[in-house]
Amino acid sequence: MISNKQLYFQNLAHTIDTPLAIEIERAEGMYMYGPNGEEYLDLLGGISVSNLGHQNPQVVEATKAQIDKHMHLMVYGEFIQSPQVKLAKKLTEMLGHHFESVYFGSSGAEANDGALKLAKRTTGRGKIVAFKNAYHGSTQGVLSAMGDEYFKQAYRPLIPGFHFAEFNKEETLSLIDHNTAAVIVEPVQGEAGYRTPENNFLQKIRQKCNDTGTLLIFDEIQTGFGRTGHLFAFQKYGVVPDIITMAKGLGGGMPIGAFAAAKEVMDNFKNNPILGHITTFGGHPVSSAAALASAEIISEKLDSFHIKAKEELFRKLLVHPNIKKVHGAGMMLCVELSSFEEVQFAMDYCIEKRLIIDWFLFNNYSLRISPPLIINEDQIRWASSVILEALDAFNKTH
Ligand SMILES: Cc1ncc(COP(=O)(O)O)c(C=O)c1O
Repeated sequence: MISNKQLYFQNLAHTIDTPLAIEIERAEGMYMYGPNGEEYLDLLGGISVSNLGHQNPQVVEATKAQIDKHMHLMVYGEFIQSPQVKLAKKLTEMLGHHFESVYFGSSGAEANDGALKLAKRTTGRGKIVAFKNAYHGSTQGVLSAMGDEYFKQAYRPLIPGFHFAEFNKEETLSLIDHNTAAVIVEPVQGEAGYRTPENNFLQKIRQKCNDTGTLLIFDEIQTGFGRTGHLFAFQKYGVVPDIITMAKGLGGGMPIGAFAAAKEVMDNFKNNPILGHITTFGGHPVSSAAALASAEIISEKLDSFHIKAKEELFRKLLVHPNIKKVHGAGMMLCVELSSFEEVQFAMDYCIEKRLIIDWFLFNNYSLRISPPLIINEDQIRWASSVILEALDAFNKTH
């Protein structure tokens, strides 16, 4: 009989010649299990998705209960569906401030695309300022906002009007002017290698937006839902954007994306043209039910995850001559090494020891740590010891 691995290489589309190709049959909490019971510790959480770990019982129960009631009914926004409206209410409570209105999509890229459209429609302007090394998704709309030439050069022409400032470089904010509809920024740059804002950089962007009537969009698709130790990174850094985008950790393991803004801003989608943003599956009821259960747990239990203490423990343990620096915030940590060869070696070594770890799109000399927030002290100690062993092994063979 043809194996799953054969089917995987034969019929599944791939975007790299050397995918991880690890077969997983089930997952629970911090662990994933292969078909022969192989146990992997998950240091990635599906890239900042499974914040409560895999198969959180309350999330699973809410998901199953919703499936028993109904699945898809109608395109987004036409019918009143309990899990969707309750999730919207919960998010407005978690976000506070002016975030009264939530638009649901199915992914992060779609959320960012909708947010950029909303900014253009609201301001009547066409220019967007994004940042070098920014990642906002892979569809053509948000590929236009990607701050990396290598990954987008083959797909031109993209959307005109995108300009790129440099993260943490105040002087490049002069790009923001009275023609700018929006600045889109990740409060902690993800694929750049978890780069945190320095010298009140986010405050400076906010000020420039205020001065020019530009809308500020925070892409909190990776930073949201407790990952930095706060529900949202804007709360950690004390800067409130006009529009916030969410996905990944929002769904508790189910696909969903969203963006939130003040009602008067969001209402611009209602006219000239009507139906300014449309989607079939946005805020799917089953995803919304899972997201609601997950959001309730995260908002209630975030303090008990002790994110700061876990970050400090990782930083204390990850000391090695090959580690140049550990960047990041909370459970988004970037272990900076010297080369892709070293990263590749360390990843292979860790996976051999059944520790799931990865690298970054725009920073291939660093290892990514973005585990479920429920990781415990023993798991942090074990994972760190495997990473250090990997670096020792690299030094012995190179
Ligand atoms: C900061 C950020 N924005 C947007 C996206 C795109 O989300 P999606 O893959 O759900 O389209 C990602 C995905 O990695 C992300 O990290």
